[in-house]
Amino acid sequence: MKKILGIVSSARRLGNCEIMVKAVFRNLARPCELSLLRLTDFQIDPCRGCYRCLFNDGHCVIDDECSIVLDAIGSADAVILAAPACFLGAHSALKRFLDRGLSFYGSEDRLWGKPAVGVAVAGIPGMEGGTLLDIERFLKLILADIRQTQAVYGALPGEILLDQGNREAASSLAQSLFGPKIHKTGPNCPLCDGDAFRFMGPDTVRCLLCSNAGIIHMMDGTAVVEINPADHQLFLTRQDVKDHKAWLMGMKERFMTMRKALEPISVDYLKDG
Ligand SMILES: Cc1cc2nc3c(=O)[nH]c(=O)nc-3n(C[C@H](O)[C@H](O)[C@H](O)COP(=O)(O)O)c2cc1C
Repeated sequence: MKKILGIVSSARRLGNCEIMVKAVFRNLARPCELSLLRLTDFQIDPCRGCYRCLFNDGHCVIDDECSIVLDAIGSADAVILAAPACFLGAHSALKRFLDRGLSFYGSEDRLWGKPAVGVAVAGIPGMEGGTLLDIERFLKLILADIRQTQAVYGALPGEILLDQGNREAASSLAQSLFGPKIHKTGPNCPLCDGDAFRFMGPDTVRCLLCSNAGIIHMMDGTAVVEINPADHQLFLTRQDVKDHKAWLMGMKERFMTMRKALEPISVDYLKDG
């Protein structure tokens, strides 16, 4: 039986995120078991940027509960994630865990390619801001295989399932978890399927999911995005992940080489403020 991990990034118990995760689970075609993890229940401290986890099989020096969450993801067969919009972005519990991402590289074998779906829940239709992008970024950086993401709307706890469209979204997300992947229908990044872009010039854009740049132009009345992969990638392929890890580990050597030149810059600012 497949083990499904439901990740809820909201402190509200039996709120819309928890209900959506469970609704997606109920719609799964095959028998599965569900474990639920509420990110806000865990003590997850800020990353100290010491890089030691990279040289220690992903074990972080911080004595908190981050590894419990990481282990739960690593041992699941698939992930259903839901996060609410909180001032136009996903709830901070999601980012708090993500910021500990250097330690994820020690679990690459257990993380890479795990099927996952994501739901952004917002109280006001259209007012989710960057929540869906935050959810997609989270799933990409835990090295999951995003099968589908959706934004759904509902404010009061439970209200999310009053809407037929939201119930259909739960069913569709469930079908794509182990079935055919649902790609974005509008203009999207050909490298990562992201559909949020920042304009850098009249027709040049950067994909806000994979951070690669390219151009946007019209073809037969439709916007088409062409994105070119930069030399340094974070997650497009498994090799990218390995290369990025090696690059990060190289920072230690680089720091040792540059230490003498860097120290006077820092020391000069020591007493300010
Ligand atoms: C502090 C706070 C900020 C919120 N910010 C937004 C927002 O920016 N946009 C929006 O559409 N809804 C916003 N909402 C509404 C929630 O996204 C909505 O109620 C959602 O259903 C909550 O999910 P939950 O029940 O799982 O906690 C906010 C709610 C709270 C409590």
